[in-house]
Amino acid sequence: MAALAGCQQDGSDEKSKQETAVSQVETKEVEVSKVESVEKRKAHNPIDDHTYGNLHEVKLEHLDLDLTVDFAAKSLKGHVDLSFDRLKDDVSALVLDTRDIDVSKVELYQNDQWVAGEFELAEKDDVMGSKLTVTLEEGVDKVRVHYATQPQASGLQWLTPEQTDGKKHPFMYSQAQAIHARSFVPVQDSPAVRVTYNATIRTPKELLAVMSAFNEPDTELDGEYSFEMPQAIPTYLIAIGVGDLKFKAMSNRTGVYAEPAILDAAVAEFDDTEEMVKVTEELYGPYRWGRYDLLILPPAFPYGGMENPRLSFITPTVIAGDKSLVSLIAHELAHSWSGNLVTNANWHDFWLNEGFTSYVENRIMEELFGRERALMEQSLAVQDLRQAVQDLPKEYTVLNVDLKGADPDDAFSTVPYTKGQMFLVWLEEKFGREVFDAFLVNYFDHFSFQSITTQQFEAYLKENLLDKHPGVVTDEQIRIWIHEPMLPEMMPNPTSDAFNIVNQKTKQLLSGEITLAQLGTEKWTVHEWLHFINNLPAGMSNDDMVAMDMEFKLTESTNNEIAHAWLLLSLKTGYDVVMPRLESYLISIGRRKLIVPLYKQLMETEQGAEFAKRVYKVARPGYHPLAQATLDDIVNK
Ligand code: BES
Ligand code: ZN
Repeated sequence: MAALAGCQQDGSDEKSKQETAVSQVETKEVEVSKVESVEKRKAHNPIDDHTYGNLHEVKLEHLDLDLTVDFAAKSLKGHVDLSFDRLKDDVSALVLDTRDIDVSKVELYQNDQWVAGEFELAEKDDVMGSKLTVTLEEGVDKVRVHYATQPQASGLQWLTPEQTDGKKHPFMYSQAQAIHARSFVPVQDSPAVRVTYNATIRTPKELLAVMSAFNEPDTELDGEYSFEMPQAIPTYLIAIGVGDLKFKAMSNRTGVYAEPAILDAAVAEFDDTEEMVKVTEELYGPYRWGRYDLLILPPAFPYGGMENPRLSFITPTVIAGDKSLVSLIAHELAHSWSGNLVTNANWHDFWLNEGFTSYVENRIMEELFGRERALMEQSLAVQDLRQAVQDLPKEYTVLNVDLKGADPDDAFSTVPYTKGQMFLVWLEEKFGREVFDAFLVNYFDHFSFQSITTQQFEAYLKENLLDKHPGVVTDEQIRIWIHEPMLPEMMPNPTSDAFNIVNQKTKQLLSGEITLAQLGTEKWTVHEWLHFINNLPAGMSNDDMVAMDMEFKLTESTNNEIAHAWLLLSLKTGYDVVMPRLESYLISIGRRKLIVPLYKQLMETEQGAEFAKRVYKVARPGYHPLAQATLDDIVNK
């Protein structure tokens, strides 16, 4: 089997393991059709079972996109030229991933000209999409696919003017991770594939297009925009946004793109970004991507942020006015090392992206805002994690998770994030900061611009940390962290002095020893509020809820995280006063993390379910396809 670029550097063991796996698969009789198709995919492609792409035969290298953004048709229309390298002599096809894409024509570049080519678009699989097979002829190393995306493309959201801040212009943006790039570009849609790209994007004249590429801050508005991404990136990092966007610089290399009405607020909130880049460079080596800008999306964006290279996509729900939620920026920036530089080879290794990023994020926060804040953020995350592992299927609590053919979006949880982070915090504690920091710098450098598996990480860890400092941790401990379900006994339990005081006061409050006024909330940070609310008992009386709301005006909180925590507690305790606020919250925000728990809680009671169904009907058209899919399962089940 030919090696994939970057995937097998230290992986000769890995390769033979995969070959054995393939032959086992080939000889096994599989009955259940779903399992069969997963096994077939694995046999076909042992590196990544979420792509149809024939990565072991043909390696994509470069994309040239030429697309027109048609808002009326909710479609990207045009073509992509795919340049590739043949890894074998006898390759007869280029196999690509697509989902809900109309392919009108395929051309092959042969003897310096484009000639008509043959292709076959297979039936759609719910998780994978439709396999596109392009027949290759001799000497062809470039293919042109003419296509148009469909309005329901899972990786795009099309917003009407009414759904934007300014209400005058439409907005469109992409979200490719995990396996949605295939819904707007036919590619071998795997993180194991790295491509450079160029793009020409045509839009209505008054709108600006930006991409995960070099964006020229003083671009003239003329409806035609060119982009170049000269560094090879995994396909899930291909990204585009189009709207009434203005740019404001925060430093020489950082800036914000946003709708005009929120641009200044965003700049004020995120003006520590340059400082964040600097401290991360000091910790982990140079920032390798040129500019680092932020694109502020409409509130329907289903995530907090997305680390699209050179241009992180950010939810506006973290613009709180007091920088209390800027760890999100630290997080997306951290991906410029963990994720974008060193990438998970497939979605079973997702924790390599998110665990490392959560760890780095917290180190950045510590540098900028001090140890106490970093510990509070760790502590909040660990509390969420402890809750999550109780609710998740056990197999999804493993770091190196076996997705068994499931949609990676369905297995999404806090486990790869916070369990991964705690694993690294534990290593840091065991080996000491100095040793562990040096290890990480080398790790990012060694695997830079590569996509790696958990097994490759394990081998690197053993050779460069464990064996160099024998007797500190055992191989068995590492195995437990990475391959065993649930949370290990040895997991650190981050505590914060400020939270300890909140705990003590809460106890006194609940036992009637002190009054609300004596809680001492005057100087509480958002984090202390969150810790306080999250730890109030679901058995709180209505009188207590009323009193607390009168005293602290929590229903009216403009901090979206506090509002979320309070609304959730209110549902649990049956405090109905919040219902109108809850309704407007659910209609105005589409970020899954903030709305899904509320809908789930609502569905627990008959009355709540009725409310949820009514509100969801109104809110649904404004949600992203991904949030719609998640909530259809919860609300309309
Ligand atoms: N890369 C993720 C978002 C993502 C993960 C999108 C998987 C699709 C599939 C991003 O970096 C992220 O982790 N966002 C978090 C931020 C938080 C942990 C600070 C989010 O959106 O909540
Ligand atoms: Zn992340």
